[in-house]
Amino acid sequence: MKLFLDTADIAEIRTWAETGLVDGVTTNPSLVAKSGRPFFEALKEICDTVAGPISAEVVALDAATMVVEGRKLSDVADNVVVKLPLTVEGLKACRALADDSIACNVTLCFSAAQALLAAKAGAAYISPFIGRLDDAGHDGAALLGEIREIYDIYGFSTEILAASIRSPLHVRDAALAGADCATLPAKVFGQLYQHPLTDKGLAAFLADWKTTGQTIV
Ligand code: G3P
Repeated sequence: MKLFLDTADIAEIRTWAETGLVDGVTTNPSLVAKSGRPFFEALKEICDTVAGPISAEVVALDAATMVVEGRKLSDVADNVVVKLPLTVEGLKACRALADDSIACNVTLCFSAAQALLAAKAGAAYISPFIGRLDDAGHDGAALLGEIREIYDIYGFSTEILAASIRSPLHVRDAALAGADCATLPAKVFGQLYQHPLTDKGLAAFLADWKTTGQTIV
């Protein structure tokens, strides 16, 4: 299962890329605005920092302009994935870009039927927003399972990219549902490592080791 960072903040990306566990990055217009950086400059820097897929989102609403924007984003680096909204126009643009061998991530997916359409449109990734579904009183994890089942039944190669992740429990849910990838805010990425019993156990090991008076190096 691939783990992506869901941020346009280059400092956060550099910090976590050092772990060797960041397989890609996803951005969206809100995250770019939050970064306060010029979009193309930030995108190039992110693409140079992480070798895996980097999602960059279009902002047009009609397919023709989305395709133009998508091609321009794709020209920034070989690892750019064009992010498109799950609308009629977005899926028309997805088909056109996919036919031109440009990888697309279809975003703002909230139902299994929408995910089926994205796969048929040639999406390389589908991004179900599980946190926003949970926030609205629905079951984000169940949606991931439904999409997994449908894609497996029909042999779609579209990768399920669990998005809008709020906690390590969401990462567990995504892994158990068979999602191919999950994209996490940097804070949640850090939380994945943490457990109070790990800290407690390590402190006890080191205290006992100290009583031996030995060193390893
Ligand atoms: O990038 C898409 C998605 O991960 C956004 O998450 O936290 O704004 O619901 P959020």
